[in-house]
Amino acid sequence: MQFFDAAQTARRLYYEALIPALRSGMTADAEVPPRQHYSLDAAQQATLLVMPAWNREFLGVKLVDVFPRNSERGLPALSSAYVLADGGTGQHLAVIDGGELTRRRTVGTAALGASLLSREDSRVHLIVGTGHIGSAVHDAYAAVRGGIESTLIADPYNPAGARELAGSLAERGVRATAVDDLRTAVGRADIITTCTLAREPVIRDEWIAPGTHLDLIGSFRPEMHEVDPSLLGRSTVFVDHEAALTEAGEIVTGFAESVLTREDIAATLPELCARTTPRTRGDDEITVFKTVGTGLADLIAAVTVYART
Ligand SMILES: NC(=O)c1ccc[n+]([C@@H]2O[C@H](COP(=O)([O-])OP(=O)(O)OC[C@H]3O[C@@H](n4cnc5c(N)ncnc54)[C@H](O)[C@@H]3O)[C@@H](O)[C@H]2O)c1
Repeated sequence: MQFFDAAQTARRLYYEALIPALRSGMTADAEVPPRQHYSLDAAQQATLLVMPAWNREFLGVKLVDVFPRNSERGLPALSSAYVLADGGTGQHLAVIDGGELTRRRTVGTAALGASLLSREDSRVHLIVGTGHIGSAVHDAYAAVRGGIESTLIADPYNPAGARELAGSLAERGVRATAVDDLRTAVGRADIITTCTLAREPVIRDEWIAPGTHLDLIGSFRPEMHEVDPSLLGRSTVFVDHEAALTEAGEIVTGFAESVLTREDIAATLPELCARTTPRTRGDDEITVFKTVGTGLADLIAAVTVYART
C-alpha cells in the first residue's frame, strides 16, 4: 500500500491534470451514497464523517475527524485521510492526505465550473476568503482562465489575511491586490469566488454587475450565506450536486423566501460536463455555481494521485 502525504498529494494534483480529470470523471458511472455523520463525543462536539464512492475500477472512502475543541490543545480541528482500494478485488492501494485532496478538488471543481460558465474574456478575478481553501483558488483558475490580468483578494473577516495572501501571490509574479472596499471590487470583477464561513451575506445582490460569474464554495449548512439569496433569483444557477439544494444556505433560504424555485436550478455539474456543445451565455447574464463538495470529486482526485505514480 502506498502513502501520500500532503506535499506528495499536492504535487500529483496539479490543476492541468486534475481539472480535465474532474471534467471527464463527472460523467462516468459511479455510486456515491450520502455521507454518514457520527457524533462521537457531545462534550467535545467531536464528529466522524465517512464519505464513500466507487466505480468498477476503484473504491474509496474519505474519513474526516472533526474535533472543534482541538484548538485548546494547539491541534488542527480537522484530520482527514482518503483510503483508495481496487474496485475489482477490494485490495487497498493507497492512503492519501485528505486535507490536501479536499482543498485541491474543491478549488479544481470551482475552476471547472468557471471554465464552463464564465465569460472567456474574463480579466478581473475577485477571491473572497483567504483560509485553507481561499489560498489555493488563484492557481486553479490560472489553469482555466489564462486571460485573467488582475486578482483582487478580500477577507472582510480577516483583512490581514487578504494582505498576506496578495503579498505571497505578488512575490510569485501574480498581479494580486488586497482590497478593503468589497463593494467596488465586486463591481469590477468578471469572476468572483467565495470561500468563507459567513452566516450573513458578505456580498450584496445590488453590487453584482451584469455578466458576472460567481463560484460560491463556502456555505454548507442552511444558516450559512455568502451572498444574498435574492441574487440567485435573478441569476442562472448551477450546483455541483443535488445535495446543494438542501444544504446550501443561499439556496435553502432562496426557496423559503420564494425568490428561487427548483425550476430555476439550470443543471448539476455532471449535466453540464455531459454537454457536447459549449454553453452560450447572454451578455448580461449573471451565472452562479454553488458547490458543497461531492464524494465523486474526491474519488476522481484520489485516482489522479494514485495513477500518477
Ligand atoms: N464546496 C466545497 O466542496 C467545500 C470544500 C471544503 C470546504 N468548504 C467550505 O469552505 C469554507 C472555507 O473553508 P476553509 O477550509 O478555507 O476555512 P478556513 O477556516 O481556513 O478559512 C475561513 C475563511 O472564512 C473567513 N471567515 C471566518 N468566519 C467568517 C465570518 N463569520 N464571516 C465571513 N468570513 C468569515 C476567514 O477569515 C477565512 O478567510 C468553509 O465553510 C468550508 O466548509 C467547501
